[in-house]
Amino acid sequence: MLLYLTLLLTASASAIPLASRAQPVTPNPTFSEETFQKLLDAPTAADRFTLIQSMGVPTKFDFNPDANPNGGVGSGPGGIGILANQKTFLPLIGLGVAMSAGFLNPCGMNVPHTHSRATEFLTIVEGGNVTTGFYMENDGPPAFNNTLNKYQGAILPMGSFHFEFNDNCEPAVFIAAFSHEDPGLSNIGANLFKLRPDVVAAILDYPTAVDASNINKLKHTLPPEFIDNVASCLNRCGIKPSSS
Ligand SMILES: *[C@@H]1O[C@H](CO)[C@@H](O)[C@H](O)[C@H]1NC(C)=O
Ligand SMILES: *[C@@H]1O[C@H](CO)[C@@H](O)[C@H](O)[C@H]1NC(C)=O
Repeated sequence: MLLYLTLLLTASASAIPLASRAQPVTPNPTFSEETFQKLLDAPTAADRFTLIQSMGVPTKFDFNPDANPNGGVGSGPGGIGILANQKTFLPLIGLGVAMSAGFLNPCGMNVPHTHSRATEFLTIVEGGNVTTGFYMENDGPPAFNNTLNKYQGAILPMGSFHFEFNDNCEPAVFIAAFSHEDPGLSNIGANLFKLRPDVVAAILDYPTAVDASNINKLKHTLPPEFIDNVASCLNRCGIKPSSS
């Protein structure tokens, strides 16, 4: 799964906030499965980096969305997410880190999700007043909430449920480091409904008789507070929601 961020559909797609759009970019190169396998099979890191050099695999990654036309990108009218993991940026193989950049449009939300294998450390580099929060696990404390201004960062522990919301009329950009070269992504709202409908109904404490015919209705009831938040931000900023 290459998609890293699924951003809730919010503002108009033309509002992508990129001062960086003006600078010329060269797309990050893509490599074959064979190249990946060769690097994976290298007996030592020294061997791997010898191959990286001889095969011309760059050790630099461009997070500009224009440099990532097909890989590691999640996008929607809420914004764009770019991920450098061991698949999109081969030198990360075996190094235990990854990094992403999130370009949030006004009122854009990176919907609640979890990373199965990595802790995330996220810092705002453009914009500000971005809210983020996480919920740890059973028996943990109440959810943590943070408002981040430019150059402020927050920790989002491995396995925690978390989100970022740019509840503002200006765009925002974050950079996030991950403690694994393949952090993984699971969108909680969407993936919950991939389980059996009767099981989902039980989780949501609905009456037992829920089937395929009414599961869609249920789906829309899941994250109401987030939908309301986005709607009220769009309203405050005078942005017309996209028709999708
Ligand atoms: C920060 O965002 C909140 C909404 O979450 C808004 O009410 C407030 O005015 C914003 N503050 C600034 C300084 O933009
Ligand atoms: C964070 O926000 C949630 C939702 O409003 C609330 O339940 C929780 O108590 C807040 N956490 C703290 C530490 O105030």
